[in-house]
Amino acid sequence: MCGIVGYIGSRDAYPILIKGLKRLEYRGYDSAGVALISERSAHLNVYKVKGKVSGLEAYGEREDLSGTIGIAHTRWATHGEPCQVNAHPHLSASGNLALVHNGIIENYNVLKEKLQKKGYLFKSDTDTEVLVQLIDYMKESGKLDLLTAVRLALKEVVGAYALAVIDQTYPDEIIVARKSSPLVIGIGEHEFFIGSDASPIIEYTDQVVYPEDGEIAILSKGKPLKVVDLSNVALDPEVQTLELNLGQIEKGGYPHFMLKEIFEQPECIQDCMRGRLHVEENEVILSAIIDHKDKLMNAKRFIIIACGTSWHAGLIGRQLIEHYCRIPVQVEYASEFRYSHTVVGEGDVVIAISQSGETADTLAAIELAKEKGAFVYGICNAIGSSISRATHTGSYIHVGPEIGVASTKAFTGQVTVLAMLALTLAKVKGTIADETLQEILQELQVLPEKMKKALETNEKIASLSRIFTYAHNFIYLGRGYNYPVALEGALKLKEISYIHAEGYPAAEMKHGPIALIDMEMPVVVVATHNSLYEKLLSNVQAVKARQGRIIAIVSEGDEVISEIADYCIELPRTVEALDPLLTTIPLQLMAYHIAVWKGKNVDQPRNLAKSVTVE
Ligand code: F6R
Repeated sequence: MCGIVGYIGSRDAYPILIKGLKRLEYRGYDSAGVALISERSAHLNVYKVKGKVSGLEAYGEREDLSGTIGIAHTRWATHGEPCQVNAHPHLSASGNLALVHNGIIENYNVLKEKLQKKGYLFKSDTDTEVLVQLIDYMKESGKLDLLTAVRLALKEVVGAYALAVIDQTYPDEIIVARKSSPLVIGIGEHEFFIGSDASPIIEYTDQVVYPEDGEIAILSKGKPLKVVDLSNVALDPEVQTLELNLGQIEKGGYPHFMLKEIFEQPECIQDCMRGRLHVEENEVILSAIIDHKDKLMNAKRFIIIACGTSWHAGLIGRQLIEHYCRIPVQVEYASEFRYSHTVVGEGDVVIAISQSGETADTLAAIELAKEKGAFVYGICNAIGSSISRATHTGSYIHVGPEIGVASTKAFTGQVTVLAMLALTLAKVKGTIADETLQEILQELQVLPEKMKKALETNEKIASLSRIFTYAHNFIYLGRGYNYPVALEGALKLKEISYIHAEGYPAAEMKHGPIALIDMEMPVVVVATHNSLYEKLLSNVQAVKARQGRIIAIVSEGDEVISEIADYCIELPRTVEALDPLLTTIPLQLMAYHIAVWKGKNVDQPRNLAKSVTVE
């Protein structure tokens, strides 16, 4: 999704902007651009390309790229096709202003018509160009300063925005503003940095401010940061210290971020459980649960809302909470929930799960749930993200930045937090036997080691994956706790290899998908040794009888399904409820290797964005 970078200070802005854009590439984009106020001519220069940020570097040889103030952008098309004209920054009619924007201006058509009547002409199809012309109109017609023009323009805007604007008549100032779209300001020594997230900023400073919805920040050379609201009331920005280092956002020797992130999982899970797991005391403590235990214990039901991979984690969360806490749980796609007639209100606890913490549908669903009186608990990865701020309370998964577009370590982090949430609550409620709790806690403690064993299957999976590059379709089957794993395995494969894949609860296969099975069809069966093993066996036999090519994920020492399957991946055994934390790993690896064999762009698959900040 779109990325914003900005710089104002005494250094050359251009290299900082380009490097920043590259750090944001993981979000997915189709065009890029930069605007600088030239040191030589005092003019505003704008350079844009369709395609990769590297295309912008070609400008270096022939253009004026001087300047110590600039803004830059990677665009992911929403209004208008991906092309140079629609790329940001957009210039105003007067030629004085350049603006970059992330989000959607919902009333852009109405505003555009008004401006057209005033004589404004539009070059692009974007909502962003409407915004820059609106600010221009306010400024020129009212003879206003830049800040006032931005404030008044934003009062007319309906929608979501994170924006940065520069003005060649104010060469020492960048104005930024946000509403429902992410934006971070980095504070250095007499300089400021802007980013859609902290990754373009982290190598320069760890002091940051996250503007709140409806706030405008004025970044002026040599002056302290000033923040006001839309009515120009001065606010006191909270400066935070980032706990992120550069190593965490670089590849660390792996060919792709996705592989690095798959291999980081043992360590991530360790980080996620640190300070929360107390095996000897037979307890697991998520402080947010303890702080709000009355609300949670007395909940009449839980509603989990999320999208994509986070939604799959939610399906596992449902089983964990119902299993151990005996509280009814429903799991909803956030995008459906926000427009559905779901009955929600006081007494309900809504759990919102999001890696990025910026997913627009999840954020809107949270607002709706809060309006109706529900108590909202967030499970996020990105610290300080919009969702973590919009929820009443919550727990971070602490797996570090996830750069690969296909989510991997965030999924296992989410499942780990959901397991800890269910166990904390079950203990408080008294719905779990001490011995059961002890057994699960001991398993959680050794899980990072078992994950490492699961990762040892990498080479076998790499060669196995080569065989299946021929496939145009895949079926993934699982039952119980492993059913969401089957869904997640199928999602991973389609996202990065563009092979069509369906995840199904294994027993549902006979109600339709079985018709697809023939000797060409790869069927991945998640068949570890658990309470549903025997049931799954008969589903596997049904696939075999139709000559499907079975790839089975089994427990160490399995002798039955591994005899029937064409290919087998063995995993260490664990308790049933924690199975997904291991069974997911070979499916992530298989999707990764198939995509690599097929020569696909694993970290930035086509059409996908890392953080989906539009509806
Ligand atoms: C899949 C994937 C997406 C996200 C979904 C929600 O690999 O990454 O399906 O899970 O867009 O994103 P978050 O968790 O950031 O809300």
